[in-house]
Amino acid sequence: EKEIKILAIESSCDETAAAVVVNGRDVRSNVISSQIALHTLYGGVVPEIASRKHIEKINQVIRAALEEAQMTLDDMDAIAVTYGPGLVGALLVGVAQAKAISFAKNIPLVGVHHIEGHISANYIENKDLEPPFLCLVVSGGHTHLVRVVDYGVYEILGRTRDDAAGEAFDKVARAIGLGYPGGPKIEQKAKEGNPMAIDFPRGKVSDNVYDFSFSGMKSSVLNYINGCKMKNQSYKEADIAASFQQAVVDVLTQRAIHAMEEYHLDKFAIAGGVASNATLREAMRKACEEKGVAFYHPSPILCTDNAAMIGAAGYYEFLAGTRSHTDLNAVPNLKL
Ligand code: KG4
Ligand code: ZN
Repeated sequence: EKEIKILAIESSCDETAAAVVVNGRDVRSNVISSQIALHTLYGGVVPEIASRKHIEKINQVIRAALEEAQMTLDDMDAIAVTYGPGLVGALLVGVAQAKAISFAKNIPLVGVHHIEGHISANYIENKDLEPPFLCLVVSGGHTHLVRVVDYGVYEILGRTRDDAAGEAFDKVARAIGLGYPGGPKIEQKAKEGNPMAIDFPRGKVSDNVYDFSFSGMKSSVLNYINGCKMKNQSYKEADIAASFQQAVVDVLTQRAIHAMEEYHLDKFAIAGGVASNATLREAMRKACEEKGVAFYHPSPILCTDNAAMIGAAGYYEFLAGTRSHTDLNAVPNLKL
């Protein structure tokens, strides 16, 4: 059997990443240069700064990924790159780099959807996982409940109508002065708090049972804080963090269970930055156990943005015959 070796590149937001992945699931290197410290100064990702930093780092990161895998560009069977969705200037850096390598070395190019990457992160550590399964993608930019029908075949059952789950974590963290990125900070703070202290609304969307809405939940946190301030009442940040986290987890779990039942799926996976949240994982694990559904999740390093997941997704696209060419462009609002 010939091994398919893929160099994968990811630069859609604030991590510059490259990886070498063999046959989709065997990660030989996974190099990530995070810009988080830089953006923390501004309380969120500054697109212009992200693009510039990607340009500075991309060559280094690719070289490191090849070195760690003990391979060269000449060993590669394909180059996979995220071309959307994401920040246009950030995406362009990876896309231009991938096109240049593909052209110079005459290596096939495969454009990959970022969300398909997040979903495919689950294949890396779960060698037995195969479609069909249900996947909840929860990140800073996306909240999608997806039916993975087959490799590369997706049916979106539900999505957020407003804020993404991670975005809500980030906004609430800012409101209670925890800083950026908010997800891990809220999770930490919540450990000292009572998840039942405050009953934040579990935002239902009426016309699609699988859609999400987090902006109402975020507003009620802000209203709660402002209310306390106006009444000169003190409030416990840890209780707000724990109660908010619980509200998000409840909504995500409820929608996921509903879909497992409706579509009779016996495998469920979570993906994206928020999927590294331990309270969410525990709730999902328990729900799956009760339903007799197998539960999958990537390690935290494969939940947040990385290139190994793009290599995994790129492999199945490559097998399906997907090829991109020198006209591949960054598509900031690319649909799955
Ligand atoms: O997947 P990701 O790295 O980037 C996007 O594609 O958006 O996700 C980043 C998001 C951020 O909003 C961050 O606050 C959130 O994931 N996040 C978490 C946790 N770790 C990261 N949210 C909740 N709990 C966490 N432990
Ligand atoms: Zn992402």
